[in-house]
Amino acid sequence: MKVLVVCYSRTGTTKIVGEAIAKELGADFDQIIDLKKRTGLPPIRFLIAGRDAMRKRKTEIKFERSAADYDLIIIGTPVWAGNITPAVRTYLGIQNLEGKKVAFFYTDGLGTEKLIDEMKKLVPKSVFVGALGIPAKEVKAGVHLEKIKSFVSSLSK
Ligand SMILES: Cc1cc2nc3c(=O)[nH]c(=O)nc-3n(C[C@H](O)[C@H](O)[C@H](O)COP(=O)(O)O)c2cc1C
Repeated sequence: MKVLVVCYSRTGTTKIVGEAIAKELGADFDQIIDLKKRTGLPPIRFLIAGRDAMRKRKTEIKFERSAADYDLIIIGTPVWAGNITPAVRTYLGIQNLEGKKVAFFYTDGLGTEKLIDEMKKLVPKSVFVGALGIPAKEVKAGVHLEKIKSFVSSLSK
């Protein structure tokens, strides 16, 4: 089974998790780039980012790998204002994930079942196989690997 791990990451936390999942699975890794500048100018860009996520806005993105080449696509996002980031919302809309197995992961966030439900709804013709949420503070403390291992083993069952 060919597996792609792909995520958006503004400050690197979600990328650390994505790369660790990819390493554990021997999968390819790709990053979604938001072409709208999201860093610098604090707090303005932070507020705009949260507002864009809350309003369920899409954005311009780029990425390297096509989901068409994979059987399982594991898609990751940071939580922004309790929502999926615009970059990942856009990705789910433009990649054809019909009939593909999908799993989701996110960093940070409490009560984020809503976020996973929404991601599922954005790709209704995919086969959902699992989700993982990791607090950013666990990633920063370097204690995220156990959760990643158990997520990965749940996917292969
Ligand atoms: C605009 C913005 C909004 C955020 N909103 C939330 C939130 O609603 N809940 C939460 O737990 N974390 C929130 N965060 C924190 C991020 O989800 C968290 O730091 C995440 O791990 C960052 O991932 P990254 O380093 O891959 O960008 C927010 C961060 C940003 C930049």
